[in-house]
Amino acid sequence: MPRPRLTDDQRALLAWGRRHLRDLPWRATRDPWHVLVAEVMLQQTQVDRVVPRWTEFCDRWPTPADFAAAPAADVLTAWQGMGYPRRALNLHRAAQQVVDLHGGALPADLDALLALPGVGPYTARAVLAFAFEADAAVVDTNVGRVLARRAGERLTPRAAQQAADDWLPAGRAWLWNQTVLDLGATVCRPVPACSTCPVADGCAWRGGSGVDPADGSAAVSRKQGRFDGSLRQARGAVMAALADGAVQVGALDLPGGHAADDVVASLAADGLVHTTGRGRSRTVHLGPSPG
Ligand code: ADE
Repeated sequence: MPRPRLTDDQRALLAWGRRHLRDLPWRATRDPWHVLVAEVMLQQTQVDRVVPRWTEFCDRWPTPADFAAAPAADVLTAWQGMGYPRRALNLHRAAQQVVDLHGGALPADLDALLALPGVGPYTARAVLAFAFEADAAVVDTNVGRVLARRAGERLTPRAAQQAADDWLPAGRAWLWNQTVLDLGATVCRPVPACSTCPVADGCAWRGGSGVDPADGSAAVSRKQGRFDGSLRQARGAVMAALADGAVQVGALDLPGGHAADDVVASLAADGLVHTTGRGRSRTVHLGPSPG
């Protein structure tokens, strides 16, 4: 089937993408599992930190079946330093579901992907577009910013997805989505560089004065609260302390004055750690309690 004609701004943006797309290792694969691993890592970790980890993960666990068979503690150890470790456990459960329900191969179906643990509207469409080259449009924080500014108004989640779907040129979803992601990551940044934007002419806001339409728009992340002294920091300190093996709860020295018992309880509730023993010998281990 011939591909439909492009609009001027679609043509300009694709031409920009062909010249400027960042050279990132997951862009050289169409393996759906490797694409999923990259997209889960990229949900909350910066590109530079993801690059070496993604390579390690794909070498060590090349298929969902390999990953599903790994002990949860090994998965969490390999995730160390990327933050938000619940993603690792969800990815582990997703791999097990892929083995149990889909014969070990990721499904090329939006609803089946959305049913996997930790896979939301962005990640499911990223797998469709980047692995299967299917006509799906992704909306993450960078794309959400581009869409709201282009529309000149704050968008609801439904309106943002609709705007992304409407803008997508059929048959070119791989290059299109990677290009819009990079436009948001490198040009249409929180402080935008509109003079270098290939689609500034079609943008309603164009860095204008007044309120940025991206503020509070769908998918656009808000400024994070303080990290120093936060529960997230204390949870990260416990996870880091477990990198070399189990530790006694009483030996944990946590930032922000958080009580070790409370922080361990919050991690245990998420299945990230479990404890053995009582009193002074109570010990915390990586991973959910066995059995
Ligand atoms: N952020 C989320 N997905 C990405 C991708 N595929 N490339 C670069 N940055 C991303």
